[in-house]
Amino acid sequence: MRRWPRIAAWCVAALVLAGAALGSATVYFGWYDVSATGPHTVPVYALLDVASTRSVKLRSADIDVPDLDSPDRIRRGDALYRAQCAQCHGGPGQAPEPYALGLNPAPPPLVTSARERPAAEVFWIIRHGIKMTGMPAWQYRMTDEQIWDVVGYMRVLPTLSPQQYRDGAPSGGPASSLASASTSPSSSATATPPGDMRVGDMRVGDAKAGRAALQQYLCVTCHAIPGVPGARHYVGPSLDGMADRSRIAGVVPNSPDYMQRWLMDPQGIKPGTAMPALGLREQDARDIAAFLQTLSNFE
Ligand code: HEC
Ligand code: HEC
Repeated sequence: MRRWPRIAAWCVAALVLAGAALGSATVYFGWYDVSATGPHTVPVYALLDVASTRSVKLRSADIDVPDLDSPDRIRRGDALYRAQCAQCHGGPGQAPEPYALGLNPAPPPLVTSARERPAAEVFWIIRHGIKMTGMPAWQYRMTDEQIWDVVGYMRVLPTLSPQQYRDGAPSGGPASSLASASTSPSSSATATPPGDMRVGDMRVGDAKAGRAALQQYLCVTCHAIPGVPGARHYVGPSLDGMADRSRIAGVVPNSPDYMQRWLMDPQGIKPGTAMPALGLREQDARDIAAFLQTLSNFE
């Protein structure tokens, strides 16, 4: 009587172990194809798709949607869309850029998403991006208001003919079909360039927000930073123990104010330095400075 449950339990345990071993072997021996030209296997694709759909739904549930229909909002959204989104997502009658076609997963045309997804989900996706896909997070490049502008515009997008799309929003003037922020006069006139974007009121530096922002300003591609995933590069000095150093880059005192200035404009502090200006917003610089203050080896 008591033997059968025990045998069943052993069988289940053996199956689980075999599964884990096979999974580990697939990873360890490089059997899984990570090339962008090799599509995901169907089970992996289905798994990722469900994970992503459920994740977005859960996280966007509490977002309040503002009025999206004002013509001003749609005009602003039009300019932002052309400057930041059309390269990858295309538009009515306009293909994405060649590099975008090579992304896997491919960027879908946004004509359908505005119809199929609630506005809050679209907002969340634009703000946070989607990990391990080409979809960037815009939270650090656009204000929430600007993201809503784009969401508003995306609701109009499905109604535009290629001709109307080409002509652009009424006051946008003749839009160049491959507009980008730097080359298109029509979009640069309305779209605020990154770096100039301000969000509401300033608050004091928050180390946790600063740590999150590191990923978004390429800091992790150049610096080793203890405890930060992926930050193990030595283009610049390691930031381990940064709080204990007396000077920043050897030139100015290591105070929060100087750190904020260094992060926003390294060349202004040390002409000729290899650390580039990364378009940090003031609040993000303050938060990152607060985070760097936590990197001490004497606590
Ligand atoms: C560098 C290329 C790239 C840029 C630029 C880009 N996206 Fe994406 N986007 C993607 C990719 C790739 C996906 C597919 C992600 C996936 O399949 O999970 C995606 C997915 C999306 C989705 C979800 C679509 C759906 O219904 O499944 C939305 C919404 C979206 N992007 C909006 C935008 C907006 C708005 C902008 C401009 C502010 C933008 N994207 C800029 C690459 C890009
Ligand atoms: C393209 C590579 C690159 C990127 C991206 C980069 N840095 Fe740097 N960083 C450097 C280099 C190179 C130096 C050394 C500068 C010098 O001494 O002239 C440096 C110096 C520093 C210093 C001074 C270190 C010291 O020992 O005094 C800090 C702090 C710093 N970076 C933080 C950051 C943060 C935070 C970010 C992201 C917002 C970032 N860096 C992005 C290359 C980079």
